[in-house]
Amino acid sequence: MTPNKAKLIDGKHFSNQLIRSLIPDIKTILKIIGRPPTLAVILVGEDGASQVYVRNKVKQTEAAGMVSVEHRLSDQTDEETLLSLVETLNNDDDIDGILVQLPLPKHINEHSVIQAINPDKDVDGFHVINAGKLATGQKGLVPCTPLGCLLLLRDTLGDLSGLHAVIIGRSNIVGKPLGQLLLAENASVTIVHSKTKNIEKLTSQADILIAAVGRSEMVKSSWIKPGACVIDVGINRITAPEKGDGKYRLVGDVDFAEASTIAHFITPVPGGVGPMTIACLLRSTVVAAAMRKGVEISIK
Ligand code: GUN
Repeated sequence: MTPNKAKLIDGKHFSNQLIRSLIPDIKTILKIIGRPPTLAVILVGEDGASQVYVRNKVKQTEAAGMVSVEHRLSDQTDEETLLSLVETLNNDDDIDGILVQLPLPKHINEHSVIQAINPDKDVDGFHVINAGKLATGQKGLVPCTPLGCLLLLRDTLGDLSGLHAVIIGRSNIVGKPLGQLLLAENASVTIVHSKTKNIEKLTSQADILIAAVGRSEMVKSSWIKPGACVIDVGINRITAPEKGDGKYRLVGDVDFAEASTIAHFITPVPGGVGPMTIACLLRSTVVAAAMRKGVEISIK
């Protein structure tokens, strides 16, 4: 095999820079409204991966000088109780952002819960009002993972105008909003998914290839145009017997070893898009606080 040549896109470094850049705005908000931006995080149930994500979100929010209020509910919690907690947080003037960690237990309707969040506090950007604003080019809160991908792409490639972006995956959390964000940058966007015929033919035309499907190492070198920029959104746990019994390691949706011989730029897993998602959540919490309280900040 030819030696690696792709340049790594260092999401960890970029996310640290992004969080540092929020500090002046956090201080401005503290000075003007008498408290820092405040995020409420709701976790229902004991899902291991969700617990890790929530712990990281809370830790990093506080490290940046903001406040986070954690609500942990049992997996037996009924929908009415959860909706009532969301309503309490909606009405609490000291809460700027509300995040309900997904997935929720099966007996709770995710859509109903997300739509119950005040759109001005919807730091995930999942509410239909925010999805509609994004689709029609109005200012609103934008989903964190797609925003993280966009910031990495802008930093790596500069102007995205006229580039062909192919997104693998059509989820409401990543694929669809990322398509909207890239269209707003004047990229040409193709979204492919499980029913697309001859996916490889389309992906291999991409200047920017984004994989967001949740299938370990699905994207092989033959799917990638030489010189492309590859963004791997997947975070998949696979067993790693070499590390010992019951151990696992994280891999993306892209076969990194193969892809890095052909792409020009590539995000690693871990350390690529993952840290950007959390940094963008902090950014959205600052934006939500500033918008609600009418505070002028530097983030556009
Ligand atoms: N679960 C996986 N990703 C996300 C996310 O971006 N937001 C929330 N709320 N839950 C998730």
